Amino acid sequence: MQRAEQVDYRCYYQQMVFMAELERDSIVSNGLNVAILGATGAVGAELLAILAQRCFPIKNLTLLASPRSAGTTLSFQGETLTVQALSERAFQGVDLVLASAGGTISQEWLPRAVAAGAIAIDNSSAFRMDPQVPLVVPEVNPEAARAHQGIIANPNCTTILMSLAVWPLHRVQPVKRLVVATYQSASGAGARAMEEVKQQTQAILAGESPVAEIFPYPLAFNLFPHNSALNELGYCQEEMKMVNETRKIFGFPELRISATCVRVPVLRAHSEAINMEFEQPFSVTEAKQWLAQAPGVKVVEDWSRNYFPMPIDASGQDDVLVGRIRQDISNPNALELWLSGDQIRKGAALNAVQIAELITTKAELVTPLMVE
Ligand SMILES: NC(=O)c1ccc[n+]([C@@H]2O[C@H](COP(=O)([O-])OP(=O)(O)OC[C@H]3O[C@@H](n4cnc5c(N)ncnc54)[C@H](OP(=O)(O)O)[C@@H]3O)[C@@H](O)[C@H]2O)c1
Repeated sequence: MQRAEQVDYRCYYQQMVFMAELERDSIVSNGLNVAILGATGAVGAELLAILAQRCFPIKNLTLLASPRSAGTTLSFQGETLTVQALSERAFQGVDLVLASAGGTISQEWLPRAVAAGAIAIDNSSAFRMDPQVPLVVPEVNPEAARAHQGIIANPNCTTILMSLAVWPLHRVQPVKRLVVATYQSASGAGARAMEEVKQQTQAILAGESPVAEIFPYPLAFNLFPHNSALNELGYCQEEMKMVNETRKIFGFPELRISATCVRVPVLRAHSEAINMEFEQPFSVTEAKQWLAQAPGVKVVEDWSRNYFPMPIDASGQDDVLVGRIRQDISNPNALELWLSGDQIRKGAALNAVQIAELITTKAELVTPLMVE
């Protein structure tokens, strides 16, 4: 490269950083017009809490849900806000949409939101595998967010939790194969599913028959393989999400993964047992050291007490709790670990807000790729 060109690029770079910083400062001081689509749901409630906790710069907040909820009120930072039914006009003047109203709604409405000038961060599976749409876990592939064309997808909750635990080790020595079993809480299926399990529990304790409407079978005092649609190989959609989305996030299409997803009668926070096979042995001590330094991960293990990550400890926490890191006795190149993570928080709402922070208030992500 010619010296003159280098100088030009540097000027361009500095100008871009300056512009990005100006934009960030302006956003931080003036705030964004934000809409939560699906505000009355399990993820919507958590989005409201996290936006407030992280002091996300908001000028105006619009709460959207189905016509069923129109007119109901929700509280945000001491203010009472009225929920509106989703409509054509809903996205006028909106800068950022945080969507959690399911795939069908996202598929239909997010392109309209983008056409109206908004950036949309989507919690549903509608756009995750679209090659034009970045699929982002900020601790793993923040740079992917740069390439967005209006929509950014938040990965599946079990995938986010697994990627946080595997990525810090994969960076040191690429994983060859992952085998995961999940233990997924009721709230993963939404606010009404959580209520259903509570009612089933009360019914069974009162000697009555449990009623299952959201789930296909009673979940209280029971468990069953994840009830999403099965493919011809016998894998359900949730399992294939873990396979395909992890490959996309890691930028590693050949990664070998097999998943078994199970719904368990826990109200909140998913757990996972993960077997990671590498090309060569990976020392347990080193793995613990890497995980202890990894953002979004907290190593939790006290072998003397048999104390390891549990959903009750993970609930309400930003970090995914990882422990029981040990050598796989059946394979010298494999490690085992166990995790619990709040799937409504880091598996959905927090991850979405972190992505919003990346693209709006963090100048470094706006720097041009050519200077790297
Ligand atoms: N729960 C989790 O742990 C989790 C984790 C990761 C991703 N996700 C994804 O996030 C999305 C929401 O999940 P959730 O658990 O929050 O579900 P939820 O508790 O059932 O909430 C669904 C939300 O969507 C709204 N909605 C439904 N139909 C609508 C319509 N026709 N127009 C506008 N809004 C409508 C609901 O409004 P009403 O109250 O008016 O019906 C409610 O606010 C799903 O795509 C889910 O796969 C969930």
